[in-house]
Amino acid sequence: MLLEGLLVDLVPYGDAFKKLEHRWNNSEAVFWASVGDRRVVSRASIERWQQESAERAEQGPRHSVWFGIRTKDGTPIGDMALNWVLPHHRLGMLGAMIGEPDYWGGGYGTDALLLIVDYAFDWLDFHKLWLGTMASNVRAQRNVEKAGFKLEARRRQEMYADGEWVDHLLYGLLREEWPGREAMVARLGLKTRKEG
Ligand SMILES: CC(C)(COP(=O)(O)OP(=O)(O)OC[C@H]1O[C@@H](n2cnc3c(N)ncnc32)[C@H](O)[C@@H]1OP(=O)(O)O)[C@@H](O)C(=O)NCCC(=O)NCCS
Repeated sequence: MLLEGLLVDLVPYGDAFKKLEHRWNNSEAVFWASVGDRRVVSRASIERWQQESAERAEQGPRHSVWFGIRTKDGTPIGDMALNWVLPHHRLGMLGAMIGEPDYWGGGYGTDALLLIVDYAFDWLDFHKLWLGTMASNVRAQRNVEKAGFKLEARRRQEMYADGEWVDHLLYGLLREEWPGREAMVARLGLKTRKEG
């Protein structure tokens, strides 16, 4: 399975990505992705998580769909996932992390987001997608609002990040609000690097 975008492709989350998990889990990226957690994680812990995750996958159906985000030149830069999938509600929670900060703010996240949203609605027949982020994560808010997500709730002072209480923002997007990826690409004027 490969979802082809303009700047990135969403690809199976294989070894090329798993090898980078130690670096990403000890970087600034995880603070934003995990809403406020500043971790120091050993290689041994990462290997144990990976082992546990593989064992869970063998035990039964997973309630998440993971992709790696790979640039067009083949560089693995992060992950994009549908988590907490509730099939009977046709509902899923989006999670995204570009683990390489040098790639933030360059449109890669928007490209990846349009791909996974389209996949969830068009292929998996979801009814709704949602996600949560810290009020201080302005980049993520801009990213999801561009794709049409609506702010549905502000849960006050729910996260403690870098010594401060911050609000937790919940965003949602309904299938009926999604015009399709091609329409979104046109609306946002997204281009490949060559065109741009
Ligand atoms: C959130 C994330 C996936 C977004 O991907 P991205 O490639 O950085 O985002 P994009 O470049 O596609 O879009 C980000 C938008 O925020 C804007 N932006 C960038 N830095 C910003 C800042 N400090 N303040 C406000 N807006 C900012 C960009 O200009 C862009 O908007 P524009 O297209 O209107 O100019 C990525 O930054 C990331 O993985 N961050 C770390 C982990 C994280 O926050 N995960 C999400 C948790 S909910």
